[in-house]
Amino acid sequence: MILITGGAGYIGSHCTLDFIRNGYECAVFDNLSEGHKEALQTENFYNGDLSNIENIRNAFKKYPIKGVIHFAASCYVGVSVTDPQEYYYNNVVNTLNLLKVMLENNVKNIVFSSSCATYGNPVYTPIDESHPQAPINPYGKTKLMIENVLQDYDRAYGLKYMALRYFNAAGADSKANIGESHSPETHLIPLVLQTALGKRKSIKIFGNDYETPDGTCIRDYIHVNDLSKAHRLAFESLQNNAKSNFYNLGTGKGNSVKEIIETSEKITGKSINKKFEERREGDPPILVASNLKAKNELNWEPDFTEISDIIETAWQWEKNRRY
Ligand code: UFG
Repeated sequence: MILITGGAGYIGSHCTLDFIRNGYECAVFDNLSEGHKEALQTENFYNGDLSNIENIRNAFKKYPIKGVIHFAASCYVGVSVTDPQEYYYNNVVNTLNLLKVMLENNVKNIVFSSSCATYGNPVYTPIDESHPQAPINPYGKTKLMIENVLQDYDRAYGLKYMALRYFNAAGADSKANIGESHSPETHLIPLVLQTALGKRKSIKIFGNDYETPDGTCIRDYIHVNDLSKAHRLAFESLQNNAKSNFYNLGTGKGNSVKEIIETSEKITGKSINKKFEERREGDPPILVASNLKAKNELNWEPDFTEISDIIETAWQWEKNRRY
């Protein structure tokens, strides 16, 4: 059985679904602080907190865990700047607790949610895995710290890991009726679609004077099902005795904020009110992945390569959201 921490969250619930669809048994460990009961894809659910090591030990007693996919973490870049303590405890200390219990139980496979935020300001684009890692906010630093911890634990204890550095997760599963639901929502695509639905008055465009073709920031939006598939392939390669490794997960294509809004207008058939605002602090102009390493070594291929297809699935969710 595979333990999925944060399996009631946005990416974690989609990943659980992917593993189950492919015949795996899963258990979810989540404290429901950001996750949603409605998003759970299995009845094997342990409502626990990674800050409580006895909770983790009990989950390992309850379920015959053979490997871990670790999503549970705080993920707001902005809050990590104003409240770094929460981020260092939740993302670093609590992950150390999880690793401790894994080692106590001789469970030595983990897939870790890392981030392109570990790279900091890009010095070239597209970003490959050899790009220097120099995070510019506590969120990115916590992810890099755990990558370093994993490297040391591999060397010392033989703990095998795959660190997956996501670019911008987006979209929703078109059949399962699960999707993105953060509180507060800060991510571009849900905010744009909620504006189309009339739930918000306008979308703020953070900066239109960047050195990009239309002046707005460019990001690499990757469908959450493609992310999930990559976790499964990474886990399977660990089971086939692959060495610990790290991979970028993105489509390799960038879209600007304006393109996201224009595409959303086409898909929704609504005109979306926009407001130009100052740049948001800490936003690099362009973040696009080179995904060749994941393609070549994990045999991973994203199914969603067009931004319109990704937004379409997000729109279906947004119109019918259950939570
Ligand atoms: N943006 C707007 N208006 C908004 C929200 C966002 O213009 O109301 C812009 C941002 O400035 C950025 C782009 O839309 O240029 C995407 O912003 P998101 O907030 O959706 O996502 P980020 O690019 O900030 O994502 C980052 C990192 C991820 C990290 C994630 C954590 O790229 O690695 O934050 O939430 F995981």
